[in-house]
Amino acid sequence: MPNILLVGNGAREHAMAEAIMRSKEKPLLFSYMKANNPGIASLSAKTKMGSYADPSAIILFARENKIEFAVIGPEDPLGNGVVDALAEAGIPAVGPTKSLARLETSKAFTRNLVSKYNIPGNPQFKVFTDIDGVEVFLNKLESVVIKPDGLTGGKGVLVQGDHFATKQEALTLCKQILSESNSLIVEEKFDGEEFSLQCLCDGKTIVGTPLVQDHKRRFDGDRGPNTGGMGSYSLPDHSMPFLKPSDIEEGLEITRQVAAALWSETGSPYKGVMYGGFIATKNGTKLLEYNARFGDPEAMNILPLLKTDFVEICQHIIAGTLDKLKIEFEPKATVCKYVVPKGYGLPADHPDAASSKAKIEVGDVGKARLYYSSVDKKEDGLYLSSSRAIGIVGIADTLDEARLIAEEGVKAVKGPVDYREDIGTDALIQKRIDHMKKIRKE
Ligand SMILES: Nc1ncnc2c1ncn2[C@@H]1O[C@H](COP(=O)(O)OP(=O)(O)O)[C@@H](O)[C@H]1O
Ligand SMILES: [Mg+2]
Repeated sequence: MPNILLVGNGAREHAMAEAIMRSKEKPLLFSYMKANNPGIASLSAKTKMGSYADPSAIILFARENKIEFAVIGPEDPLGNGVVDALAEAGIPAVGPTKSLARLETSKAFTRNLVSKYNIPGNPQFKVFTDIDGVEVFLNKLESVVIKPDGLTGGKGVLVQGDHFATKQEALTLCKQILSESNSLIVEEKFDGEEFSLQCLCDGKTIVGTPLVQDHKRRFDGDRGPNTGGMGSYSLPDHSMPFLKPSDIEEGLEITRQVAAALWSETGSPYKGVMYGGFIATKNGTKLLEYNARFGDPEAMNILPLLKTDFVEICQHIIAGTLDKLKIEFEPKATVCKYVVPKGYGLPADHPDAASSKAKIEVGDVGKARLYYSSVDKKEDGLYLSSSRAIGIVGIADTLDEARLIAEEGVKAVKGPVDYREDIGTDALIQKRIDHMKKIRKE
């Protein structure tokens, strides 16, 4: 009966809590959260509210509860050195130290690492700390993406054609970014289809999990502003219909080499999740970025499919023995749809923005699984906060069945909410297949 600490309060962590509690080791769960997630709370022996920027509060909670190991959900505590503080207190963790978490917290660090170790997958890029040379480099590239060097909650990257049209506008935006951020990356824009490849890593062995495709745009048809992710799907063969086996192998190989490079560079093994955001292009798989944790929503697609004991996986990550464990997933399709406040992602002066704090009712979600995210449980019921509220997941033998289960679950949430109807539909997936065919000239 290990006592396990889980840090995090989103739907991703709700799915992690569920995976932990399914363990045959009968663990006791101790959850440290920024806001009370009723789903996580219901699975926990004890909960503690506090800030992710306060490692000492997390250590205190861990010590009081004789924690065997910790699992860190979100990027903020990783970036704040929570894993380092736990290690000093003698508590191992699934999640990288602050230095290794630069894989996510600094896009410049990762681009430079990939380049220094001659790992494939980088675009043409340059890191700038002032505006000198930015204009020349912008004009060297056909089409550009500009990225602030730091955590932006998925809302800081600007893509030519989506967020701005001309190089002149790009230059203005670069100046703006440099006035707010220490550094800026300008890189070549790739054309292709994106996929999330979440790998488990113990430092030397990486294990791929089923591929997932997330949907960042707020509205159907990939329209509207970027969000934290409106939903995602995965397929029974654990691949994506627009990928060749070599595309996946390239993503795995990049991740393998990055794990080795991280060890050489920092002198310590990376223990946790290396989530590669990849894009399949006409020239093979390219790297958009890494995250140092499971994706949210993507965790909800893969963790419920795990056949292998998640606690055992964590123990092997910590021990550095992932190569000794066979990790298996159910061959099923999954569709995750996020229920969000109607005003989510919209400007504050939009008429729907008011819906953000309203009361909701959750009825019977049928065969779907429900993972709480940003909801506020008050005495008289459940309230929305300003962010994504509830992740609803359908799991079935086919994508269509999984989607229908998720749709039915979504309909059980009553209130001023919204979701993307098109996620997991054949039409949307066909669009991606056609796009890939076109750029590969097949
Ligand atoms: N080099 C690139 N080429 C094309 N699109 C890109 C590129 N880099 C980022 N993007 C787009 O911007 C999105 C966000 O960029 P990403 O690097 O994943 O940062 P974050 O998730 O932190 O916002 C990606 O999902 C992708 O759609
Ligand atoms: Mg991303």
